[in-house]
Amino acid sequence: MDILATLQQGKGRWLVTGCAGFIGSNLVETLLKYNQTVVGLDNFATGHQHNLHQVQQLVSEQQWQNFSFIEGDIRTFSDCQLACEGVDYVLHQAALGSVPRSINDPIATNETNISGFLNMLQAAREAKVKRFVYAASSSTYGDHPALPKVEANIGQPLSPYAVTKYVNELYADVFSRTYGFHSVGLRYFNVFGPRQDPNGAYAAVIPKWTAAMIADQDVHINGDGETSRDFCFVANAVQANLRAALSPIEKSEVFNVAVGDRTTLNQLFDALVHCLADNNVQYARAPHYGDFRAGDVRHSQADISKAQQMLGYEPQFKILDGLKQAMPWYVGQQSD
Ligand SMILES: NC(=O)c1ccc[n+]([C@@H]2O[C@H](COP(=O)([O-])OP(=O)(O)OC[C@H]3O[C@@H](n4cnc5c(N)ncnc54)[C@H](O)[C@@H]3O)[C@@H](O)[C@H]2O)c1
Repeated sequence: MDILATLQQGKGRWLVTGCAGFIGSNLVETLLKYNQTVVGLDNFATGHQHNLHQVQQLVSEQQWQNFSFIEGDIRTFSDCQLACEGVDYVLHQAALGSVPRSINDPIATNETNISGFLNMLQAAREAKVKRFVYAASSSTYGDHPALPKVEANIGQPLSPYAVTKYVNELYADVFSRTYGFHSVGLRYFNVFGPRQDPNGAYAAVIPKWTAAMIADQDVHINGDGETSRDFCFVANAVQANLRAALSPIEKSEVFNVAVGDRTTLNQLFDALVHCLADNNVQYARAPHYGDFRAGDVRHSQADISKAQQMLGYEPQFKILDGLKQAMPWYVGQQSD
């Protein structure tokens, strides 16, 4: 499927929940650049107004006029109903991310990620949207040891966050069987890129380490550094969302969204040092190793063949390509 050709056939109305967050704001940017009409919903729990300002700078004035923002909360059903009015496609990203956050406060994570998710699913069904695409997670693989991860084989969840993301999939499946409302879950594997928040206790590894390196502070590695991840540049995740929204499906489905590679934390550390050097930032400190983090999966690598076959998904950026794209943004942010 040629996404561009499909989008050029007409203007669709898209709802992006979590639009002020990292992945959500990247979705809004791409959709506006394709001249689509976009409604954004966010309560700024972890997202930021400055992400939306950055998107505004990156699109034309005319494209920005196709964006409308609702400050609202997915835990409030009427906010979800309002946001879904007249919408063709929902890209549901709003959630409380982070495994450690969910271990510290499982109730807050549950309220947004399960009750909020169900509100959105029901509101989207009532509004008869063409497709509901939602952010699932590789954490659903839990303690299943097989590598690479294949969608059908999951283990026991290792954190409250993983439970919430698995429950999303269960609800999506039940809505398909019970109401014939089919949706697509995208199991993201460690997505990274511009506008991913480097601040706060729950920051993800790439923005957190990069910010520390730019500020010439110590970098702390949880465990021995041989923990591995399938790091996925955000443009790949955006592509998967658009394809998931526009591809035909006959029941609710879930797909891995990653590259299919595996990078250890030690390799990531070296790659970041090199990419920063290319951007005139020198970092000479050695990493500090600490305890393994509770709830973390040891190794993660996706089998992406299901998304390739059913959605035509082809990741355009491997980790080093993505880091090269993202690094000027990180450096620009820290030196602002
Ligand atoms: N970034 C990753 O590597 C990754 C991996 C797996 C899954 N995910 C999932 O992808 C989605 C987007 O993640 P992200 O990295 O962009 O995180 P993010 O924190 O940058 O974005 C989430 C957005 O949702 C908003 N939000 C939170 N609670 C809300 C509520 N109750 N009502 C309305 N808005 C609310 C936040 O304010 C924020 O703007 C999440 O569902 C997350 O669980 C992300």
